[in-house]
Amino acid sequence: MNTKLKKTRVVLYFFFYDCISTCKFILPCTSLSLLYLYYIYFYPFRHYIRAGVTMPLAGRWCRITGSSGSAVGCYWSAEGEKIPERSHASAGAPHAAAQLHGTRTRVDHRPLTGILRSSRMSVVGFDVGFMNCYVAVARAGGIETVANEYSDRCTPACVSFGPRNRSIGAAAKSQVVTNCKNTVQGFKRFHGRAFSDPYVQCLKNSLVYDIAQMPTGTTGIKVMYMEEEKVFSIEQVTAMLLTKLKETAENALKKPVADCVVSVPCYYTDAERRSVVDAAQIAGLNCLRLMNETTAVALAYGIYKQDLPALEEKARNVVFVDLGHSGYQTSVCAFNKGKLKVLATACDPELGGKDFDEVLVKYFCEEFGKKYKLDVKSKPRALVRLYQECEKLKKLMSANSSDLPLNIECFMNDVDVSGKLNRGHFEEMCVDILARVEPPLQSLLEHAKLKKEDIYAVEIVGGASRIPAVKERISKFFGKELSTTLNADEAVARGCALQCAILSPAFKVREFSITDIVPYPISLKWHSAADEGLSDCEVFPKNHAAPFSKVLTFYRKEPFSLEAYYNCPNELLYPDPTIGQFLIQKVVPQASGESSKVKVKVRVNIHGIFSVSSASLVEVQKSDETEEPMETEQATDKDGESKMQTDQDEQQAQGDAQKETEEKTPRENEEMETNTEESKSEKKSDQPPQAKKPKVKTKVLELPIENSPQWQLADDMLNLFVENEGKMIMQDKLEKERNDAKNNVEEYVYDMRDKLHGMLEKFVSESVNALSLKLEDTENWLYEDGEDQPKQVYIDKLAELKKLGQPIQERYTEAEERPKVFEELGKQIQQYMKFVEAYKMKEEQYDHLDEADVTKVDKLASDAMMWMNSNMNQQSKQSLTVDPSVKVKDIQAKTRVRMYG
Ligand SMILES: Nc1ncnc2c1ncn2[C@@H]1O[C@H](COP(=O)(O)OP(=O)(O)OP(=O)(O)O)[C@@H](O)[C@H]1O
Ligand SMILES: *[C@@H]1O[C@H](CO)[C@@H](O)[C@H](O)[C@H]1NC(C)=O
Ligand SMILES: *[C@@H]1O[C@H](CO)[C@@H](O)[C@H](O)[C@H]1NC(C)=O
Ligand SMILES: *[C@@H]1O[C@H](CO)[C@@H](O)[C@H](O)[C@H]1NC(C)=O
Ligand SMILES: [Mg+2]
Repeated sequence: MNTKLKKTRVVLYFFFYDCISTCKFILPCTSLSLLYLYYIYFYPFRHYIRAGVTMPLAGRWCRITGSSGSAVGCYWSAEGEKIPERSHASAGAPHAAAQLHGTRTRVDHRPLTGILRSSRMSVVGFDVGFMNCYVAVARAGGIETVANEYSDRCTPACVSFGPRNRSIGAAAKSQVVTNCKNTVQGFKRFHGRAFSDPYVQCLKNSLVYDIAQMPTGTTGIKVMYMEEEKVFSIEQVTAMLLTKLKETAENALKKPVADCVVSVPCYYTDAERRSVVDAAQIAGLNCLRLMNETTAVALAYGIYKQDLPALEEKARNVVFVDLGHSGYQTSVCAFNKGKLKVLATACDPELGGKDFDEVLVKYFCEEFGKKYKLDVKSKPRALVRLYQECEKLKKLMSANSSDLPLNIECFMNDVDVSGKLNRGHFEEMCVDILARVEPPLQSLLEHAKLKKEDIYAVEIVGGASRIPAVKERISKFFGKELSTTLNADEAVARGCALQCAILSPAFKVREFSITDIVPYPISLKWHSAADEGLSDCEVFPKNHAAPFSKVLTFYRKEPFSLEAYYNCPNELLYPDPTIGQFLIQKVVPQASGESSKVKVKVRVNIHGIFSVSSASLVEVQKSDETEEPMETEQATDKDGESKMQTDQDEQQAQGDAQKETEEKTPRENEEMETNTEESKSEKKSDQPPQAKKPKVKTKVLELPIENSPQWQLADDMLNLFVENEGKMIMQDKLEKERNDAKNNVEEYVYDMRDKLHGMLEKFVSESVNALSLKLEDTENWLYEDGEDQPKQVYIDKLAELKKLGQPIQERYTEAEERPKVFEELGKQIQQYMKFVEAYKMKEEQYDHLDEADVTKVDKLASDAMMWMNSNMNQQSKQSLTVDPSVKVKDIQAKTRVRMYG
């Protein structure tokens, strides 16, 4: 990306309604700058400033109105440029702020401080798996997979709800058995799915936890949380998980994390992707890209390879196979130096490690039914335990082909159960599952139009790819040894972190271009203006490069609506082909009454999400020759802006930007063109418009679009979720503090009780041992009334105990230290006395000293000696159970007195 080379320093002036803050940073220059500016500085705070963000334009005021009571104006300029008077911002912040001030009372300054603090950007990749999540970060040393608070690089995709708090990750996994109804796992598959989706309905019965319908029709989970029945949307649940992963990254990087790249299965459709983007936003993350898991793996593979063929040489084709817990994804990519292109993908979203677990569970349920007369399926808790043990057994069988035992104590009804199995038998039971390994590989080669001989290597990743029978099938299919150069568990996260580093200006990364593909063809349909018929047009055919933008031209007199959909219902691994409705508003006929030319830009963006990104109407105006023919400033601006939005896409797609100009035969006054957006607009603005059409003046009007993507969370819902996530984070924090305070009391009780019978014994008088009694009381209290109290109660309790305990502990410390400090003082006195002695003996080296001074030292030394003797004497008569008559610090003070010099 050569645009990264040119950099400008810019200063952002933020106007909060009662303060101004500046923020200096280096922007990777030119037209990309604005995009970056938006992404980096505003995107993370989108939820605060959602209400009315105007894209900041260079040297221009703009208004950003906050939705949570904040108002900020912004001016951005090159460094050194004088900042204009605030009054210039007539439409800017002060105005907006005043408006808001009237209607809202609470003012939130967080977005601003957030913006300023985030000047040191984070580079993070998250692999959010069905079962396991990984976090990778970029640091000076390179890409690194980081460990969570349990020193584990793997964080289970698990969230558990309790009466006062949530547990997420490993802490939640440990509650799978004890709190099974309120511990959710395997929720990744509910993203972007209607509750009525047959797939969801079918899964419903096999889940240990409950799912429910959200008011919007999507899927939510139903749990008891804070002693109430709560329904959380799937975006919220994934956001909770991301909150945890974010925390892990923050702990590793020691700075706030916002920018990141999140992985999704490559077969995810539009609705599923949007749902994940929303989840990231709820967790306060700024997802720079949703990355296909297979593409992330390919990047992690390619970027380190030094020996890739040169650009003009034949590309190296590598197949990637990822068998996770729930999904089977394969892709084939063509590599050249500094470049990777996805050629094809093929998936089976319902094949993974879980299917093997399922077989084992079924087998042992039958076994135990026969052997112990147990109905395992009737007890969710027992079933969950069996799943856990079967998964362990499955892993063991990958390494050991002999008979392996499965034992569970107190399985159900107080019965201990045991069984055994070996790999050979297991593989026989799994023939049906194993048979599903091959078909996607077959279709992969077909779509990529490659033969087995064209494949240079087959890389396998994903936990379940360790199953020997799976490896065997893949290897046999390609007639090749498999390679495992990548870390099977961490490759996806590492690829995401690499992608984040490429997208972020915070890092310099070797240039590497990635061209992904559209997995399903996308079409648009609309009502024709002329008759009542439906028109239809495929805008992005299957395997079209992505991200990509196209401009379509319509001739219309009135507002019209477009519907986007996947035109391949059979291939789609999702029941609903609809992507969304897009209403192009404010379309009016030309002054002459003819249809207006309306340009509509559609794109598949960097997340793989389709949208109608802009629409504009070209208004033709008659012009007098006398009038200066000039495009309005507004129009130029708009041009600049729309170009800016696609620049980045063009970058990515450049290599393959086939010129595609499809002309649909116009019917009467209806016409449509498709053309890829290229640097045309640039050329256009080079030439003055009057050169082409001297007598006609055109004006481009931006048209509002009403986007209604399928299953999209509404803005107000999203804002509510953001707010709720914040509250829950706070609640967890408070609960943790409360629990810590309680633990401190408990710990103190046990610690002191031990000590009172040990090292502190001598320091308490048996008759008046108030502390012992108090400790016992407190211990009982902790199991009764004190079981569940506010934090302050525990803090007070601890203070009460310490008031009694502290003096005893101090007596102990005094007694320990006293002999040492007395000894020190004694030594010092002796030294001085020796010196006085030497002086009196007329030793040569002290000749120069004044007699009076020496006498003074002599006196001080003998005084100190007397003080010491008398205090030692007195203390020795004193009982250890009362406070000492002389304190360590007094003795030390005596020692520090310098008697001479
Ligand atoms: N040695 C092994 N032998 C067999 N199976 C294994 C082994 N190690 C891990 N697995 C299985 O791999 C699966 C987890 O793999 P992985 O972490 O790649 O999945 P995921 O990324 O969470 O899921 P997905 O990619 O489907 O979203 C589990 O089913 C686990 O039991
Ligand atoms: C909630 O907090 C308690 C104590 O702080 C902890 O033991 C528990 O695991 C947490 N999670 C849930 C879901 O209860
Ligand atoms: C396989 O498991 C069996 C039974 O637990 C054990 O005796 C044997 O040593 C194991 N073999 C290997 C190679 O680990
Ligand atoms: C992968 O992701 C991109 C967006 O990064 C998307 O456009 C594309 O459809 C996805 N590719 C496949 C093969 O799923
Ligand atoms: Mg995975």
